[in-house]
Amino acid sequence: MVTVKLAKTAGFCFGAKRAVDMVQALLDRGERAATLGPILHNARLVAHLEARGARVVESPAQTPPGAALVLRSHGVPREIEEEVRALGLRYVDATCPNVKKIHVLAREAGAQGRIFLLFGDPGHPEVRGIVSHCAGPYFVCEGEEELQDLLKTHPELRTAPVTAAAQTTFHKIYWQKCAETLKKVCTNAAVFDTICNATAKRQKEALDLARQCDRMVVVGGRDSSNTAKLRDICAEECETYLIERADELPAFSAGLSVGITAGASTPASIIKEVLDTMAEINSTEQNFEEMLEESLKSMNTDEKVHGVVVGISPTEVYVDVGRKQAGFIPAAELSSDPSVKPEDVLKIGDEVELLIMKTNDQEGTIMLSKRRVDAMKGWDVIQEAQENGDILEGKVIEVVKGGVIVLHNALRVFVPASQATATRGEELESLQGKEVRFRIIEVNRQRHRAVGSIRSVLREERKAAQEKFWEQVEEGQAYTGKVKSLTNFGAFVDLGGVDGMIHISELSWNRVKHPSEVVKVGDTVDVYVKGLDKETGKISLGYRRPEDNPWVKLEREYPVGTVCEAKVVGMTAFGAFASVIPGIDGLIHISQIADHRIEKPQDVLKVGDVVKVKITDVDLERHRVSLSIRVLLEEEQAEADAAAAGAPENETVYSTEAPEEE
Ligand code: F3S
Repeated sequence: MVTVKLAKTAGFCFGAKRAVDMVQALLDRGERAATLGPILHNARLVAHLEARGARVVESPAQTPPGAALVLRSHGVPREIEEEVRALGLRYVDATCPNVKKIHVLAREAGAQGRIFLLFGDPGHPEVRGIVSHCAGPYFVCEGEEELQDLLKTHPELRTAPVTAAAQTTFHKIYWQKCAETLKKVCTNAAVFDTICNATAKRQKEALDLARQCDRMVVVGGRDSSNTAKLRDICAEECETYLIERADELPAFSAGLSVGITAGASTPASIIKEVLDTMAEINSTEQNFEEMLEESLKSMNTDEKVHGVVVGISPTEVYVDVGRKQAGFIPAAELSSDPSVKPEDVLKIGDEVELLIMKTNDQEGTIMLSKRRVDAMKGWDVIQEAQENGDILEGKVIEVVKGGVIVLHNALRVFVPASQATATRGEELESLQGKEVRFRIIEVNRQRHRAVGSIRSVLREERKAAQEKFWEQVEEGQAYTGKVKSLTNFGAFVDLGGVDGMIHISELSWNRVKHPSEVVKVGDTVDVYVKGLDKETGKISLGYRRPEDNPWVKLEREYPVGTVCEAKVVGMTAFGAFASVIPGIDGLIHISQIADHRIEKPQDVLKVGDVVKVKITDVDLERHRVSLSIRVLLEEEQAEADAAAAGAPENETVYSTEAPEEE
């Protein structure tokens, strides 16, 4: 029997219910309705509303004629609101009042000259909507680590007036850490706790429930941010499953307690379906584990024997245990890793300690288990490792919702997603089948539960790598690193445990609007250390190679007097800028554009024109190049004049008549 506990406030929040009610009200009145994107992150609910006639549109322009457009509870960017009004659409604003409050904070921050700092997922529609209301500078941070990075790269945030707020569904515990840092480090920060109560309450209840239960089930849409956060919170405490429908429920072993919670966008009907299914399983089905346990009750399970392997088949291993009966170990009793073959575990002649599972005197056989003896020993090792903080090694045999299962000495150790990788949010699939090093952070032998942390080891290794790096690093030293993230002002590169930054101006000799024009996340790059600050841990990196410097090329290949073609790239009142070689634009002063007086450069040139110019001056120190079209025109004119003046003497007269014969 599985014990089921339901969180008190699972399911729809006030804002989600309000938005759905608004759509239902339109449909109930027989009106046509459309929603700008799915009204909630819940595919079944959206399908239900669609079946009633509410169309999901991607943009305001797609709204069917006569339909009222419902703006969802996340809110929309300002441009969209303006577009809706410009199109003259009838609309219903279902933006949650809690989100609206943050829009106001963002607007006021800009109006008061404050920098707006928002904590949340930059790709989430709520966050995109909020930042569109910022009238001044703003940053979006995903958590404490990003905040620390931001404070290093933007030290002005420490003293400048800052208004900080969080996405309504932001993780409460992460927010508390960020808010503490802001209060400690930023001397002029106004911090607003804008996490929605409904979210915070669901998160707290989910955490409490996960602490009491062996497994958690979170019901909600896979692309719902608040559901994903509930899953992450629960996964820190126990094995957690995120399901959208009742038929995705996994099988649970008898005796386990299973907690159920649901995201704020999950309708009560789906939660009820999940509870009904659990009740059904409990009353009518005996799952596999239960059956196994029952069958084991009749066995003589307390006897251990030593045996020698005498034969191996694909399904069994035959063992001589020094008795008249033939001993055999079924493949499933060899190892807890279902993927291994018998020949990978034992070979003929091996001596093994085994547990007697069943004796069949009639058939003259003894069924044995190696896996259970290994597991018993494994618990001792695991318990000791937890007490001493030892590092263990194991293989990831399964990626489950909320984490991974690592096999160590035949024991399954659950590693929550938050403890499985060096930073939060990394995908877990790549860990499947990998050997990993981890620590044990929790053991409960009665409940057969061991929880591990790979992150703790990775962090320690990273720290050691950092210390080694700082001992050896010098300015000018070359490194090969991996691009970790991009911001508007540069690219962060992992140099092997330590991050450095290539400023956008260092990425290329040419003008670059965004670092993504030169590098992308995951690229391997060769860099050198330009500057170091051991106190703040800041490392600035160089990426441009001196030999690619266009000014060196210009000096070498384009001396003053060179005539070349240049493309007009910009205009000002005093002249036109033209690209001589990539990375160098020269100025054609207005007086040098034509051989006669012109009012403005646009009278003769336009951006994109390719013109013949003469380089008339190069200032390598100030990086300035002067160009002239006029000089060339005058030179051409002088040549033509000279040619015309000398024509009589030099003129060659061609006659059509045949020369006279001598
Ligand atoms: Fe509103 Fe909070 Fe729900 S912000 S939409 S009541 S989660």
